[in-house]
Amino acid sequence: MRQALRRCRRVFRSATVFSAAVNILMLAGPLYMLQIYDRVLASHSVPTLLGLTVFVVVAYAFQGVFDIIRGRLMARSARILDAYLEKAIWQLLIGLSIAARSQKDAVQPARDLGQLRSFFVSPGPLALMDVPFVPFFLAICFLIHPWLGGVALGGTLLLFAMAFVTERSGRRSAALAAEGALTRAALIETGWRNSESIVALGMTETVAKRWTATNDVFLAAQAHAGDVVGPLQSFSRVIRFALQSAILGLGAYLVIYGELTPGAIIAASIMMARALAPIEIALGNWQAFVAARQSYRRLDRVLESAPPTEAATVLPPPRERLEVRTLTVAPPRGDRPILRSLDFSLAAGSAMAVIGPSGSGKTSLCRTLLGVWRAAGGSVRLDGASVEHWRPEDLGRHVGYLAQGIDLFDGTVTDNIARMEEKPDSEAVIAAARAAGAHELILRLPGGYDTEVGEAGKVLSAGQRQRIALARALYRDPFLIVLDEPSANLDRPGEVALLEAVTRAKQRGAVVVMVAHQPSLTEVCDFVLYVAAGEQKDFGFRADVLRRVLVQPQPAPPPAASAKVTPINRGPS
Ligand SMILES: Nc1ncnc2c1ncn2[C@@H]1O[C@H](COP(=O)(O)OP(=O)(O)OP(=O)(O)O)[C@@H](O)[C@H]1O
Ligand SMILES: [Mg+2]
Repeated sequence: MRQALRRCRRVFRSATVFSAAVNILMLAGPLYMLQIYDRVLASHSVPTLLGLTVFVVVAYAFQGVFDIIRGRLMARSARILDAYLEKAIWQLLIGLSIAARSQKDAVQPARDLGQLRSFFVSPGPLALMDVPFVPFFLAICFLIHPWLGGVALGGTLLLFAMAFVTERSGRRSAALAAEGALTRAALIETGWRNSESIVALGMTETVAKRWTATNDVFLAAQAHAGDVVGPLQSFSRVIRFALQSAILGLGAYLVIYGELTPGAIIAASIMMARALAPIEIALGNWQAFVAARQSYRRLDRVLESAPPTEAATVLPPPRERLEVRTLTVAPPRGDRPILRSLDFSLAAGSAMAVIGPSGSGKTSLCRTLLGVWRAAGGSVRLDGASVEHWRPEDLGRHVGYLAQGIDLFDGTVTDNIARMEEKPDSEAVIAAARAAGAHELILRLPGGYDTEVGEAGKVLSAGQRQRIALARALYRDPFLIVLDEPSANLDRPGEVALLEAVTRAKQRGAVVVMVAHQPSLTEVCDFVLYVAAGEQKDFGFRADVLRRVLVQPQPAPPPAASAKVTPINRGPS
């Protein structure tokens, strides 16, 4: 964060210079007034009045222009901050999403950046830049008359004290309100994602209740923050008015005793108003300021704890083998391991089926093979290089993955198959679709390859989604293809296409790892890995492992018997 701010330093410096200019030009008004009262009204000289007026108009014009410029500069600093941080934050968001239990934890950095950005362009920071000029204006008050200076100084200190109290007393509820806003956003997201189940299961009311409860907490915190800050703000406003009158009253007293000219009273009163203005603006923007500071600290912490993106040397494309040695699979939060002591190796051109009961860790293994989860022990290597040593962008090019919960992006079919590349290679897209046996199916969609699939592929059927996701996995012929229950939503022709795709991938020298429940899917696999009860129960040639698994009485149900319950509407399979 400090580095990011350092990038803005030059802009800040210019903004400070312009702030200084604006503040000095602010003297023009009071000076004008002083001259009018004490000189023009006394001498009745129109030329003097004209000269002064020209002077003050020019000063105002410059003040306006400089004020615009410093506003622009702050906006620019917000952009610089954003440009410097956005990529890191995006990577952080993705990284956190993998480890986070709920969306709330993962989106925080992005929100924090937004919070900071909007703070930078709010009046708050400019007011803060004016604060150093407070003594300057106070000094002028003292120059006009020490007593007036004393009143102005006292008033300023009082307002400062109030700002401090406000900050202290409202901090907690402001933090609570910010937290509540996040929970609320997460709930909205859940509602949107699960709307079908919510309606079908008649959960609308119950969810609404939860929503109300969350909302109430948020509103209460917000109200409390307002309750604390509101009166303090009103009070400080009243103090400011009182001070204004005090200066006038005291000034009049001094005029009566010939210590001051009437013009000087007005000038002193304006000077004091200038001295108090930044403090009042800062008070008015207090909530934004607290939120920005919290965001800054959180970002600082989370960016610090993020693993450095080591600029690894680009490794040659893997060609030969996938090697897994004494691998321990554990979730990113450092919970207890899911699988231990996995040990197997696959040469180019071979395929392995992973079987095992539900919850045995097959999906977790897939994630670890692809480097999505870090190995908690042991290693996953492609041609001798640990997957963790690859930069994700580089590794991604050599890997195909069909996740169990298919995750399509909001975009066209082509965008999805081409992994959201900016300029998708149509030939490669169609080749991948053909390899997945999805070409005809895609042509039958209303817009063909340009059909918008909606959020997470909402407008497609589950089978269509699965085939498009398979095409995405096969895009540009990756070396390692990991398919997590690729046939879960497929009909028989889909299954045949899948088996063909695996066979072809093997023929061109890929390594395929496929989580499979149906024995029919293991046909194309050379090896079978059987995991259960947190460990590798068996690994070997397909026929051998299947025989052993099926013959031996197992504590967990054998995979053939544990085949997923077939959805009723899938037809005969
Ligand atoms: N992100 C996570 N954090 C903590 N635990 C997890 C996480 N993901 C999975 N688990 C746990 O790991 C275990 C294995 O889950 P996994 O999804 O790998 O099983 P699976 O073999 O793929 O099951 P299925 O056949 O139902 O797909 C489960 O007990 C699950 O609760
Ligand atoms: Mg799974």
